[in-house]
Amino acid sequence: MAECLTNLNLACVPPLPDHVARPWDAADEYLLLETDGDSPGLLVNDRFGALFCARPDWQAWTDSDSARRSWQANATDNNLSWSPKRVLNHLSDLAPDTPQALIKMPKSFDQLCYWLDQIAAVSPDASLWLAGMAKHIPVSWLKYLQTNSGEYHQYPVRRKARLIQIKHWQGSGVKRLSGYKTQSGLTLTGLPGVFAREKQDIASHLLLANMPAATNHASKPGAHLIDLGCGNGLLALSFKQLWPDLMVTAIDDSQCAAESCRINAGQNELDIRVIHNDSLSGLSLNADVIVCNPPFHDGHRQSTDIAVRMFRDSAEQLVSGGELWVIANRHLPYFAQLKRCFGRVKTVASDPRFNLFLCIK
Ligand SMILES: C[S@@+](CC[C@H](N)C(=O)[O-])C[C@H]1O[C@@H](n2cnc3c(N)ncnc32)[C@H](O)[C@@H]1O
Repeated sequence: MAECLTNLNLACVPPLPDHVARPWDAADEYLLLETDGDSPGLLVNDRFGALFCARPDWQAWTDSDSARRSWQANATDNNLSWSPKRVLNHLSDLAPDTPQALIKMPKSFDQLCYWLDQIAAVSPDASLWLAGMAKHIPVSWLKYLQTNSGEYHQYPVRRKARLIQIKHWQGSGVKRLSGYKTQSGLTLTGLPGVFAREKQDIASHLLLANMPAATNHASKPGAHLIDLGCGNGLLALSFKQLWPDLMVTAIDDSQCAAESCRINAGQNELDIRVIHNDSLSGLSLNADVIVCNPPFHDGHRQSTDIAVRMFRDSAEQLVSGGELWVIANRHLPYFAQLKRCFGRVKTVASDPRFNLFLCIK
């Protein structure tokens, strides 16, 4: 099977630094080695398109818009047909009686259980193949999977990757929506896997406490604010609540985050636009203000690549004089990165763990 991947021309899209730029791992290889490529199946959570290109007739779904873009780029590079029908909008759109699903394990166990619940609801007899790097899969996950499946088979660890096959998933007790109330009275819920779904992220306090008094633009009627990497919509909805005339766009790469944000806008009766999108790729949105609590992980890998891309995209899409507000852990080297994209950058507030930066275009 390894030939099957090495025969393909695969790349990480958008490109990553050379030392991490490998578009598949040993868990992808294990999945392809042990499963039957001749019968139909579903691919879930393929990061860059290695599985998508190796099983070109299968259906596929991922939560991530940037992963979808990478699939498309790699499929095109390998002259594989790109049919939107292959890529499911939702897991529940899966063809009934799909005999097998290959699932790259996500970072959140609740999210994994939620995916299994959805697949089993449509295809209860499917073989579910789960794989990931062994160091990322706690024993408690394995025990839970075994207890909640009619059949469970654990393969030996191979090249540090773990593979599990289960059948007749009996369902998990994971709540579809769960959340909290903010100090300002917003009710925020999130689907499994959404960042800070149960409790407000501590970094956001510093931004919410300091930005409103210091911004020159957001309080102007009709101004346009983007919440880049919106999660459950905490920042977008807090600012819309504070300044009802503000036009607000919330953007997230994660479909479940974008869906949660939409649900929260509805239940708090706040009119904002929500877009499921990788950073600002392909969008043209003149913004007066962008607020960003950027991710510093890509899956399990700690990385500033996505944040830096968000800073560059923001510098392009802000109006002249527009503001980018960034809240970040103090250990991250963002000041220098922001300086490369913006003429004026200052630290507006700090606490022992976080800095709040204001960048003016
Ligand atoms: C640290 S969380 C912040 C969430 C929310 N704004 C808050 O303050 O609670 C970062 C968010 O960025 C999203 N994200 C990661 N990569 C992204 C990308 N390429 N484009 C847009 N959003 C992304 C994640 O899904 C996550 O919801």
